[in-house]
Amino acid sequence: MVHKIQKVSLSDMIICLTRVMEWISPTIVSHQTRTAYIAHNIAKELGLSLELQYQLALAGMLHDIGTFSLKERTYFADYDTDPELIRIHAELGYQLLKNFQPFETVAKLIRNHHQRWEHGRGFTNNGGTVLLYSQIILLAGMVDAAICGEREILGQVPEICAAVGKDAGAVFVPEYVEAFTRIAEREYFWFNLDSTSLNETVIDSLRHFNVELDISEMLDLSKVFSHLIDFQCHFTASHSSGVAGTAGALANLYSFSESGCQMMKVAGYLHDIGKLTIPPKILNKQGKLTAEEFNIIKKHPFWTYRALNNIRGLEEVNSWASFHHERIDSRGYPFRYKGPELPLGSRIIAVADVFTALTEDRPYRKGMNSGDVQNLLQEMVQSRGLDNGVVTMLFNNYQRIDESRLLEQSDSARLYGKFYDSTKARRRSGAHEQ
Ligand SMILES: [Fe+2]
Ligand SMILES: [Fe+2]
Ligand SMILES: [Fe+2]
Repeated sequence: MVHKIQKVSLSDMIICLTRVMEWISPTIVSHQTRTAYIAHNIAKELGLSLELQYQLALAGMLHDIGTFSLKERTYFADYDTDPELIRIHAELGYQLLKNFQPFETVAKLIRNHHQRWEHGRGFTNNGGTVLLYSQIILLAGMVDAAICGEREILGQVPEICAAVGKDAGAVFVPEYVEAFTRIAEREYFWFNLDSTSLNETVIDSLRHFNVELDISEMLDLSKVFSHLIDFQCHFTASHSSGVAGTAGALANLYSFSESGCQMMKVAGYLHDIGKLTIPPKILNKQGKLTAEEFNIIKKHPFWTYRALNNIRGLEEVNSWASFHHERIDSRGYPFRYKGPELPLGSRIIAVADVFTALTEDRPYRKGMNSGDVQNLLQEMVQSRGLDNGVVTMLFNNYQRIDESRLLEQSDSARLYGKFYDSTKARRRSGAHEQ
Protein backbone atom coordinates (compact mmCIF):
# COMPACT_ATOMS: atom_id res chain seq x y z
CA MET A 1 0.00 0.00 0.00
CA VAL A 2 1.52 3.33 -1.08
CA HIS A 3 0.98 6.53 0.82
CA LYS A 4 2.02 9.80 -0.74
CA ILE A 5 4.16 11.79 1.63
CA GLN A 6 4.18 15.52 1.49
CA LYS A 7 6.69 17.62 3.32
CA VAL A 8 5.17 19.40 6.28
CA SER A 9 5.98 23.01 7.12
CA LEU A 10 7.71 23.53 10.46
CA SER A 11 5.79 26.81 10.88
CA ASP A 12 2.47 24.90 10.56
CA MET A 13 3.66 22.54 13.29
CA ILE A 14 4.74 25.45 15.54
CA ILE A 15 1.38 27.17 15.03
CA CYS A 16 -0.34 23.91 15.96
CA LEU A 17 1.86 23.56 19.05
CA THR A 18 1.21 27.17 20.06
CA ARG A 19 -2.55 26.65 19.70
CA VAL A 20 -2.36 23.50 21.79
CA MET A 21 -0.35 25.28 24.51
CA GLU A 22 -2.89 28.10 24.44
CA TRP A 23 -5.58 25.62 25.49
CA ILE A 24 -3.54 24.90 28.60
CA SER A 25 -2.37 28.38 29.47
CA PRO A 26 -3.18 31.45 27.38
CA THR A 27 -1.06 33.48 29.83
CA ILE A 28 2.13 31.56 29.11
CA VAL A 29 1.48 31.53 25.36
CA SER A 30 0.98 35.30 25.13
CA HIS A 31 4.15 35.77 27.22
CA GLN A 32 6.03 33.49 24.83
CA THR A 33 4.67 35.28 21.75
CA ARG A 34 5.67 38.72 23.08
CA THR A 35 9.09 37.38 24.12
CA ALA A 36 9.56 36.01 20.58
CA TYR A 37 8.69 39.40 19.07
CA ILE A 38 11.05 41.32 21.38
CA ALA A 39 13.91 38.80 20.95
CA HIS A 40 13.50 38.86 17.16
CA ASN A 41 13.70 42.67 17.14
CA ILE A 42 16.78 42.76 19.38
CA ALA A 43 18.46 40.19 17.12
CA LYS A 44 17.63 42.34 14.06
CA GLU A 45 18.92 45.49 15.75
CA LEU A 46 22.16 43.72 16.61
CA GLY A 47 22.57 42.76 12.96
CA LEU A 48 22.59 39.02 13.69
CA SER A 49 22.20 36.66 10.74
CA LEU A 50 18.69 35.88 9.46
CA GLU A 51 19.15 32.31 10.62
CA LEU A 52 19.91 33.45 14.17
CA GLN A 53 16.99 35.88 14.14
CA TYR A 54 14.77 32.94 13.23
CA GLN A 55 16.23 30.67 15.91
CA LEU A 56 15.76 33.39 18.53
CA ALA A 57 12.13 33.99 17.53
CA LEU A 58 11.51 30.23 17.72
CA ALA A 59 13.25 29.95 21.08
CA GLY A 60 11.17 32.88 22.39
CA MET A 61 8.01 31.18 21.15
CA LEU A 62 8.84 27.96 23.03
CA HIS A 63 11.07 29.08 25.90
CA ASP A 64 8.71 28.09 28.72
CA ILE A 65 7.57 24.83 27.10
CA GLY A 66 9.04 22.91 30.06
CA THR A 67 6.26 24.25 32.28
CA PHE A 68 3.63 22.41 30.24
CA SER A 69 4.88 18.98 31.16
CA LEU A 70 4.76 19.69 34.86
CA LYS A 71 1.86 19.29 37.21
CA GLU A 72 2.84 22.74 38.40
CA ARG A 73 2.11 24.14 34.95
CA THR A 74 -0.45 26.64 36.28
CA TYR A 75 1.86 28.17 38.87
CA PHE A 76 3.48 30.50 36.42
CA ALA A 77 3.63 33.42 38.88
CA ASP A 78 6.36 31.62 40.83
CA TYR A 79 8.67 31.36 37.87
CA ASP A 80 10.22 34.74 38.46
CA THR A 81 11.11 34.11 42.05
CA ASP A 82 11.57 30.40 42.67
CA PRO A 83 15.13 29.33 41.67
CA GLU A 84 14.22 25.63 41.68
CA LEU A 85 11.26 26.11 39.31
CA ILE A 86 13.45 28.26 37.09
CA ARG A 87 16.09 25.52 36.88
CA ILE A 88 13.57 22.73 36.31
CA HIS A 89 11.45 24.35 33.60
CA ALA A 90 14.49 25.49 31.58
CA GLU A 91 16.06 22.02 31.82
CA LEU A 92 12.80 20.24 30.92
CA GLY A 93 12.34 22.50 27.91
CA TYR A 94 15.81 21.48 26.76
CA GLN A 95 15.19 17.77 27.39
CA LEU A 96 11.92 17.90 25.45
CA LEU A 97 13.37 19.55 22.36
CA LYS A 98 17.00 18.47 22.15
CA ASN A 99 16.43 15.30 20.11
CA PHE A 100 14.60 17.10 17.35
CA GLN A 101 17.44 18.08 15.03
CA PRO A 102 15.99 21.37 13.64
CA PHE A 103 15.65 22.55 17.27
CA GLU A 104 19.21 21.78 18.31
CA THR A 105 20.12 25.46 18.81
CA VAL A 106 16.66 26.38 20.07
CA ALA A 107 16.93 23.71 22.78
CA LYS A 108 20.27 25.12 23.97
CA LEU A 109 18.91 28.66 23.98
CA ILE A 110 15.98 27.49 26.10
CA ARG A 111 18.17 25.57 28.54
CA ASN A 112 20.05 28.75 29.41
CA HIS A 113 17.34 31.36 29.17
CA HIS A 114 17.58 32.25 32.87
CA GLN A 115 21.36 32.44 33.00
CA ARG A 116 22.42 35.90 34.22
CA TRP A 117 25.36 37.73 32.67
CA GLU A 118 27.10 38.46 36.02
CA HIS A 119 29.50 40.86 34.31
CA GLY A 120 30.63 38.06 32.03
CA ARG A 121 31.16 35.45 34.75
CA GLY A 122 27.75 33.82 34.22
CA PHE A 123 28.80 32.48 30.89
CA THR A 124 31.53 30.22 32.14
CA ASN A 125 28.75 28.25 33.83
CA ASN A 126 28.16 24.64 32.65
CA GLY A 127 31.72 24.34 31.37
CA GLY A 128 31.24 27.25 28.98
CA THR A 129 28.32 25.64 27.13
CA VAL A 130 25.93 28.46 27.86
CA LEU A 131 24.98 30.18 24.65
CA LEU A 132 25.46 33.91 24.78
CA TYR A 133 22.36 34.48 22.66
CA SER A 134 20.14 32.87 25.28
CA GLN A 135 20.67 36.19 27.09
CA ILE A 136 18.50 37.81 24.42
CA ILE A 137 15.63 35.55 25.47
CA LEU A 138 16.22 36.45 29.12
CA LEU A 139 16.17 40.18 28.33
CA ALA A 140 13.09 39.87 26.09
CA GLY A 141 11.22 37.85 28.70
CA MET A 142 12.06 40.37 31.42
CA VAL A 143 10.94 43.31 29.26
CA ASP A 144 7.61 41.58 28.75
CA ALA A 145 7.28 40.86 32.46
CA ALA A 146 7.84 44.55 33.20
CA ILE A 147 4.87 45.64 31.06
CA CYS A 148 1.65 46.33 32.95
CA GLY A 149 -1.26 45.15 30.80
CA GLU A 150 -3.70 47.48 32.54
CA ARG A 151 -1.90 50.71 31.64
CA GLU A 152 -1.32 52.60 28.38
CA ILE A 153 1.90 51.21 26.96
CA LEU A 154 3.95 54.19 25.70
CA GLY A 155 3.78 55.89 29.09
CA GLN A 156 5.55 52.87 30.60
CA VAL A 157 8.58 52.96 28.29
CA PRO A 158 10.84 55.20 30.43
CA GLU A 159 10.38 53.06 33.53
CA ILE A 160 10.86 49.78 31.59
CA CYS A 161 14.11 51.14 30.08
CA ALA A 162 15.27 52.35 33.49
CA ALA A 163 14.55 48.96 35.12
CA VAL A 164 16.39 47.04 32.39
CA GLY A 165 19.25 49.59 32.29
CA LYS A 166 19.81 49.23 36.03
CA ASP A 167 20.49 45.50 35.54
CA ALA A 168 22.85 45.91 32.56
CA GLY A 169 26.05 44.07 33.42
CA ALA A 170 24.76 42.24 36.50
CA VAL A 171 21.85 40.47 34.76
CA PHE A 172 21.95 41.41 31.09
CA VAL A 173 24.68 41.79 28.45
CA PRO A 174 25.14 45.60 28.22
CA GLU A 175 25.33 45.54 24.42
CA TYR A 176 21.91 43.84 24.26
CA VAL A 177 20.41 46.40 26.62
CA GLU A 178 21.73 49.19 24.38
CA ALA A 179 20.13 47.56 21.33
CA PHE A 180 16.85 47.25 23.21
CA THR A 181 17.01 50.91 24.30
CA ARG A 182 17.31 51.98 20.66
CA ILE A 183 14.30 49.86 19.67
CA ALA A 184 12.33 51.24 22.61
CA GLU A 185 12.39 54.73 21.03
CA ARG A 186 10.22 53.49 18.14
CA GLU A 187 6.52 53.73 18.93
CA TYR A 188 5.52 51.09 16.40
CA PHE A 189 7.48 48.46 18.34
CA TRP A 190 5.27 48.98 21.40
CA PHE A 191 2.09 49.26 19.36
CA ASN A 192 2.84 45.90 17.77
CA LEU A 193 3.57 44.41 21.18
CA ASP A 194 0.27 45.72 22.51
CA SER A 195 -1.74 44.57 19.50
CA THR A 196 -4.20 41.68 19.53
CA SER A 197 -2.74 40.56 16.20
CA LEU A 198 0.82 40.13 17.52
CA ASN A 199 0.45 36.40 17.04
CA GLU A 200 0.09 36.82 13.28
CA THR A 201 3.05 39.26 13.18
CA VAL A 202 5.28 36.68 14.87
CA ILE A 203 3.97 33.82 12.75
CA ASP A 204 4.63 35.89 9.60
CA SER A 205 8.24 36.37 10.62
CA LEU A 206 8.57 32.62 11.24
CA ARG A 207 7.05 31.85 7.83
CA HIS A 208 9.86 33.76 6.13
CA PHE A 209 11.99 30.75 6.92
CA ASN A 210 10.07 28.06 5.22
CA VAL A 211 11.64 25.00 6.82
CA GLU A 212 10.09 21.81 5.49
CA LEU A 213 10.14 18.63 7.52
CA ASP A 214 10.62 15.24 5.98
CA ILE A 215 8.88 12.19 7.43
CA SER A 216 11.65 11.26 9.85
CA GLU A 217 11.76 14.83 11.24
CA MET A 218 7.96 14.71 11.50
CA LEU A 219 8.32 11.53 13.54
CA ASP A 220 10.79 13.20 15.93
CA LEU A 221 8.64 16.32 16.33
CA SER A 222 5.42 14.39 16.89
CA LYS A 223 7.25 12.41 19.57
CA VAL A 224 8.03 15.73 21.30
CA PHE A 225 4.32 16.58 21.13
CA SER A 226 3.42 13.16 22.57
CA HIS A 227 5.61 13.78 25.63
CA LEU A 228 3.74 17.00 26.34
CA ILE A 229 0.53 14.97 26.35
CA ASP A 230 1.73 11.87 28.18
CA PHE A 231 4.13 13.20 30.83
CA GLN A 232 1.32 14.82 32.75
CA CYS A 233 0.51 11.55 34.45
CA HIS A 234 2.85 8.67 35.18
CA PHE A 235 0.19 6.07 34.33
CA THR A 236 0.09 7.35 30.75
CA ALA A 237 3.73 8.52 30.50
CA SER A 238 4.37 6.34 27.45
CA HIS A 239 0.82 5.75 26.17
CA SER A 240 1.10 7.54 22.82
CA SER A 241 4.45 5.86 22.17
CA GLY A 242 2.81 2.46 22.77
CA VAL A 243 0.05 3.33 20.31
CA ALA A 244 2.66 4.51 17.79
CA GLY A 245 4.74 1.32 18.17
CA THR A 246 1.70 -0.94 17.84
CA ALA A 247 0.17 0.97 14.93
CA GLY A 248 3.50 1.09 13.05
CA ALA A 249 3.92 -2.69 13.39
CA LEU A 250 0.34 -3.34 12.26
CA ALA A 251 0.77 -1.04 9.25
CA ASN A 252 3.89 -2.97 8.33
CA LEU A 253 1.96 -6.25 8.42
CA TYR A 254 -0.68 -4.66 6.17
CA SER A 255 2.17 -3.88 3.71
CA PHE A 256 1.97 -0.10 4.05
CA SER A 257 4.97 1.55 2.39
CA GLU A 258 7.84 2.48 4.71
CA SER A 259 6.72 6.10 4.81
CA GLY A 260 3.12 4.93 5.30
CA CYS A 261 4.24 3.02 8.41
CA GLN A 262 6.02 6.14 9.66
CA MET A 263 2.90 8.22 9.06
CA MET A 264 0.96 5.66 11.06
CA LYS A 265 3.41 6.18 13.92
CA VAL A 266 2.96 9.96 13.65
CA ALA A 267 -0.81 9.37 14.00
CA GLY A 268 -0.12 7.24 17.09
CA TYR A 269 2.02 9.95 18.70
CA LEU A 270 -0.59 12.62 18.00
CA HIS A 271 -3.89 10.78 18.51
CA ASP A 272 -4.51 12.12 22.02
CA ILE A 273 -3.17 15.65 21.50
CA GLY A 274 -6.71 16.93 22.17
CA LYS A 275 -6.37 15.62 25.74
CA LEU A 276 -4.43 18.80 26.46
CA THR A 277 -7.80 20.58 26.56
CA ILE A 278 -9.05 18.33 29.37
CA PRO A 279 -8.46 19.47 32.97
CA PRO A 280 -5.85 17.18 34.61
CA LYS A 281 -8.13 16.48 37.55
CA ILE A 282 -10.60 14.76 35.20
CA LEU A 283 -7.92 13.12 33.08
CA ASN A 284 -6.12 11.64 36.08
CA LYS A 285 -9.14 10.91 38.25
CA GLN A 286 -8.69 7.72 40.23
CA GLY A 287 -12.34 6.68 40.55
CA LYS A 288 -15.21 6.26 38.10
CA LEU A 289 -15.99 9.30 35.95
CA THR A 290 -19.36 11.01 36.37
CA ALA A 291 -21.55 11.40 33.27
CA GLU A 292 -20.54 15.06 33.06
CA GLU A 293 -16.83 14.25 33.31
CA PHE A 294 -17.16 11.63 30.59
CA ASN A 295 -18.84 14.21 28.35
CA ILE A 296 -15.77 16.40 28.81
CA ILE A 297 -13.40 13.48 28.06
CA LYS A 298 -15.35 12.86 24.83
CA LYS A 299 -14.12 16.19 23.48
CA HIS A 300 -10.51 15.08 23.15
CA PRO A 301 -10.59 13.42 19.66
CA PHE A 302 -12.57 16.43 18.42
CA TRP A 303 -9.75 18.73 19.56
CA THR A 304 -7.15 16.39 18.09
CA TYR A 305 -8.96 16.90 14.79
CA ARG A 306 -9.00 20.68 15.23
CA ALA A 307 -5.30 20.80 16.18
CA LEU A 308 -4.17 18.83 13.14
CA ASN A 309 -6.68 20.24 10.69
CA ASN A 310 -4.57 23.20 9.57
CA ILE A 311 -1.36 21.31 8.91
CA ARG A 312 -0.97 20.91 5.17
CA GLY A 313 0.24 17.42 4.30
CA LEU A 314 -1.18 15.78 7.44
CA GLU A 315 -4.77 15.37 6.23
CA GLU A 316 -4.64 11.55 6.11
CA VAL A 317 -2.74 11.30 9.40
CA ASN A 318 -5.44 13.51 10.93
CA SER A 319 -8.24 11.15 9.95
CA TRP A 320 -6.30 8.15 11.32
CA ALA A 321 -5.54 9.93 14.59
CA SER A 322 -8.81 11.73 15.25
CA PHE A 323 -11.16 8.81 14.63
CA HIS A 324 -9.56 6.55 17.24
CA HIS A 325 -12.69 6.46 19.42
CA GLU A 326 -15.05 5.80 16.50
CA ARG A 327 -16.46 2.27 16.49
CA ILE A 328 -17.49 -0.14 13.70
CA ASP A 329 -21.19 0.02 14.71
CA SER A 330 -21.13 3.86 14.94
CA ARG A 331 -21.45 3.87 18.74
CA GLY A 332 -18.07 5.57 19.11
CA TYR A 333 -17.48 9.30 19.41
CA PRO A 334 -17.44 12.18 18.51
CA PHE A 335 -18.12 11.88 14.76
CA ARG A 336 -20.26 8.71 14.92
CA TYR A 337 -18.81 7.26 11.73
CA LYS A 338 -19.42 3.60 11.07
CA GLY A 339 -17.30 0.73 9.74
CA PRO A 340 -17.21 1.38 5.97
CA GLU A 341 -16.64 5.11 6.55
CA LEU A 342 -13.54 4.47 8.64
CA PRO A 343 -10.24 4.18 6.75
CA LEU A 344 -8.03 1.20 7.61
CA GLY A 345 -5.58 3.61 9.30
CA SER A 346 -8.24 4.76 11.80
CA ARG A 347 -9.26 1.18 12.51
CA ILE A 348 -5.62 0.33 13.18
CA ILE A 349 -5.16 3.28 15.57
CA ALA A 350 -8.40 2.35 17.37
CA VAL A 351 -7.12 -1.20 18.00
CA ALA A 352 -3.62 0.04 18.91
CA ASP A 353 -5.14 2.49 21.41
CA VAL A 354 -7.27 -0.12 23.21
CA PHE A 355 -4.48 -2.70 23.11
CA THR A 356 -1.94 -0.26 24.62
CA ALA A 357 -4.37 1.00 27.26
CA LEU A 358 -5.20 -2.55 28.41
CA THR A 359 -1.53 -3.44 28.89
CA GLU A 360 -0.83 -0.30 30.96
CA ASP A 361 -1.26 0.06 34.70
CA ARG A 362 -4.09 2.37 35.70
CA PRO A 363 -4.80 3.88 39.14
CA TYR A 364 -7.65 1.38 39.57
CA ARG A 365 -6.09 -1.78 38.01
CA LYS A 366 -2.80 -3.40 36.97
CA GLY A 367 -1.90 -3.80 33.30
CA MET A 368 -3.55 -6.96 31.90
CA ASN A 369 -1.74 -10.11 30.80
CA SER A 370 -1.90 -11.21 27.17
CA GLY A 371 -4.72 -13.73 27.78
CA ASP A 372 -7.00 -11.11 29.33
CA VAL A 373 -6.05 -8.55 26.68
CA GLN A 374 -6.98 -10.99 23.90
CA ASN A 375 -10.30 -11.92 25.56
CA LEU A 376 -11.28 -8.30 25.90
CA LEU A 377 -10.29 -7.39 22.35
CA GLN A 378 -12.28 -10.39 21.10
CA GLU A 379 -15.33 -9.18 23.03
CA MET A 380 -14.95 -5.78 21.42
CA VAL A 381 -14.88 -7.39 17.98
CA GLN A 382 -18.03 -9.37 18.79
CA SER A 383 -19.86 -6.28 19.99
CA ARG A 384 -18.83 -4.59 16.71
CA GLY A 385 -16.60 -2.06 18.37
CA LEU A 386 -13.22 -2.96 16.86
CA ASP A 387 -12.35 -4.19 13.38
CA ASN A 388 -12.22 -7.98 13.16
CA GLY A 389 -9.44 -8.07 10.53
CA VAL A 390 -7.12 -5.76 12.48
CA VAL A 391 -7.63 -7.61 15.75
CA THR A 392 -7.02 -10.95 13.99
CA MET A 393 -3.82 -9.51 12.50
CA LEU A 394 -2.76 -8.52 16.02
CA PHE A 395 -3.53 -11.97 17.47
CA ASN A 396 -1.66 -13.73 14.64
CA ASN A 397 1.47 -11.63 15.23
CA TYR A 398 1.05 -10.95 18.93
CA GLN A 399 4.65 -11.27 20.06
CA ARG A 400 6.13 -9.20 17.26
CA ILE A 401 3.61 -6.36 17.75
CA ASP A 402 3.91 -6.48 21.51
CA GLU A 403 7.70 -6.12 21.17
CA SER A 404 7.28 -3.00 19.00
CA ARG A 405 4.95 -1.53 21.60
CA LEU A 406 7.37 -2.29 24.45
CA LEU A 407 10.36 -0.93 22.57
CA GLU A 408 8.66 2.41 21.91
CA GLN A 409 7.30 2.62 25.43
CA SER A 410 10.60 1.86 27.15
CA ASP A 411 12.23 4.69 25.20
CA SER A 412 9.67 7.20 26.43
CA ALA A 413 9.67 5.75 29.95
CA ARG A 414 13.43 6.40 30.12
CA LEU A 415 12.95 10.05 29.21
CA TYR A 416 10.05 10.34 31.64
CA GLY A 417 12.34 8.92 34.34
CA LYS A 418 14.73 11.82 33.73
CA PHE A 419 11.85 14.27 34.04
CA TYR A 420 10.68 12.59 37.20
CA ASP A 421 14.18 12.73 38.70
CA SER A 422 14.64 16.38 37.91
CA THR A 423 11.42 17.32 39.67
CA LYS A 424 11.77 14.83 42.55
CA ALA A 425 13.27 17.33 44.98
CA ARG A 426 10.21 19.51 44.65
CA ARG A 427 7.82 16.63 45.02
CA ARG A 428 9.60 15.49 48.18
CA SER A 429 9.21 18.95 49.62
CA GLY A 430 5.50 18.75 48.71
CA ALA A 431 5.58 22.04 46.82
CA HIS A 432 2.55 22.56 44.60
CA GLU A 433 1.49 18.94 44.80
CA GLN A 434 -2.09 18.67 43.52
FE1 LIG B 1 11.41 30.90 31.77
FE1 LIG C 1 -8.09 8.89 23.17
FE1 LIG D 1 -5.13 7.00 23.60
